Amino acid sequence: MCGIVAVIGSQEAAPLLLSGLRQLEYRGYDSAGLATVGADKGDHLATLTCRRAKGKLNNLAELVDRKGSPGHLGIGHTRWATHGKPEEHNAHPHRDSSGSLAVVQNGIIENYRFLRNELESEGIEFASETDTEVIPHLIAREIKHLQTNGCSSSGSILLEAVQKVSLQLKGAYALAVVWAETPDALVVARRQAPLVIGLGEGEFLCASDTPALAGFTRTILPMEDGEVALLTPLGIELYDHTGQRQKRSPSFLTSAEHVVDKRNFRHFMLKEIHEQPETAELWVARHLPNGLPEEVPVALPFDKSFYEGIEQIQILACGTSRHAAMVGAYLLEQFAGIPTSVFYASEFRYSAPPLVPNTLTIGVTQSGETADTLAALSMESERRNSHVNSAYSSRQLGITNRPESSLARQVTNILDIGAGIEIGVAATKTFLGQLFAFYGLALNFAARRNSRQPDEIRTLLEELRSVPNQLKVLIEKHDQLSEDLAPRFSGTQDVIFLGRGINYPIALEGALKLKEISYIHAEGYPAGEMKHGPIALLEPRVPVISIATPGVVFEKVLSNAQEAKARDAQLIGIAPEGPETEIFDALMPIPEVSEWISPLLSVVPMQLLSYHIAAHRGLDVDQPRNLAKSVTVE
Ligand code: AGP
Repeated sequence: MCGIVAVIGSQEAAPLLLSGLRQLEYRGYDSAGLATVGADKGDHLATLTCRRAKGKLNNLAELVDRKGSPGHLGIGHTRWATHGKPEEHNAHPHRDSSGSLAVVQNGIIENYRFLRNELESEGIEFASETDTEVIPHLIAREIKHLQTNGCSSSGSILLEAVQKVSLQLKGAYALAVVWAETPDALVVARRQAPLVIGLGEGEFLCASDTPALAGFTRTILPMEDGEVALLTPLGIELYDHTGQRQKRSPSFLTSAEHVVDKRNFRHFMLKEIHEQPETAELWVARHLPNGLPEEVPVALPFDKSFYEGIEQIQILACGTSRHAAMVGAYLLEQFAGIPTSVFYASEFRYSAPPLVPNTLTIGVTQSGETADTLAALSMESERRNSHVNSAYSSRQLGITNRPESSLARQVTNILDIGAGIEIGVAATKTFLGQLFAFYGLALNFAARRNSRQPDEIRTLLEELRSVPNQLKVLIEKHDQLSEDLAPRFSGTQDVIFLGRGINYPIALEGALKLKEISYIHAEGYPAGEMKHGPIALLEPRVPVISIATPGVVFEKVLSNAQEAKARDAQLIGIAPEGPETEIFDALMPIPEVSEWISPLLSVVPMQLLSYHIAAHRGLDVDQPRNLAKSVTVE
């Protein structure tokens, strides 16, 4: 959940670290810190300088500006608090008792309590409440043992100590270590948390995510699970968890998507909402080329065997990705005729249903790093592959926006939604990309299983081709409309979102968007469920936002909306213009399209309304309180 960055080379480290951290701030912004190793003017011996500040990165940048942090070697961290409050003393880097060795970490050390007790019983005093602080103390203790046993080469002593300590740590982590005694060595390690090395000109870098490297280099080396690396000004030594030296060729960041830029928009979220027509256009261009055979109407990177013999599909995801999965499940069941279930990944890990043979398990995660989703997929693959009957063996697919992520290293079949990097914590264009991925899958399954007539498939394909233009018009219109509506919500404390069928998950998504960036309490319900309890909440101060798109449940949703209106609720409709929709106090009009593709459009007014309500309240839309973009802890 936190972001880490490390650098060793010929330039001053602190500005490089701050610039890398700026690109990682979306991972957490409770506090930030850095440690550099270098000699102050006139000094011969290198010392470690540590600067830490509570709150956003700017506070750290000001501190470094005022006090400096010399050295060509350093580590940096931006924190999303797990163990210990977001206070300066809990900010990373954490140091050993001598203050000469520092560590930054992203993840959770699950056995830290045990390790801390052990270290405290040896007389070590702790300065924070974090799980991370055990690591510098353990490394320092290991270094002492190695020195006692005659190991003297300082770069390799640090490497060996980190290798030994990583074997003692339980949990998922990525870490970087510097030590004043080794001003030419930086050691990094990862287990189940991302870490990518960047090979720059004159420096080597390492970071939790590629945007932090993109300003310096396009040549990268993603670290594998369990690896430890020694970075020196001369090169990289990479070791697996058994200590075997590894040799791998670097890969290259290819597109400008790794460069983070707000363009002229006030917030990343608004820019990303406006990028959705482009996301859709790219998807159509890549996946719906002309001339594909009827049995494979969508160009996806899988051969025929991928679609064969599947009896059921289960989808594991969290948050917004789970809402996309719910739309996906509707399409896979109702359009392609395959029984499909959606699970919260965090629940599935500990209460998975009994095994059914010939199951496809789909993991949906835009970041490809969500710990719950990765762990659920890995648990599922283990229990299936250990089954004696091969019909139960694991078949998995990952849907992600980050094909270089941990998900892609864990799952063989990957569907890259190609939405370009998303910085706003509230997912928008990646949600749209995930929806498109499910349309592609549902169409190919339907065609291969003959569960739909060819003309039904052709119609849906044509409708999907029209979405990019429809989105363009819709976003232009609703940006202004939502901005005008937003002041109505200035005193609002609760909002109800209603939807049905394929648009029920969109009601959930609307409620999640509003909650996370405006801090207004919001709930999404299937419209028909209101009368079974939630209707008791209705009164004039509680707006009801209802998605009513023509289709099998259109009239039903309108009746449910009428029921709310009869309780004096302020009624806002996301629906086509027409006599039926005159019941709404305010209408956010969407075009009259087939029910199948309606979620691709009905979500847009939800996103823009949430955005403008939060912006109108003066809130930090891109970095809402308590959240982080990728949740790499359980
Ligand atoms: C989206 O607006 C949220 N910030 C959050 O629910 C997110 O969708 C969830 O954490 C899952 O992330 P993932 O797609 O990267 O796995």
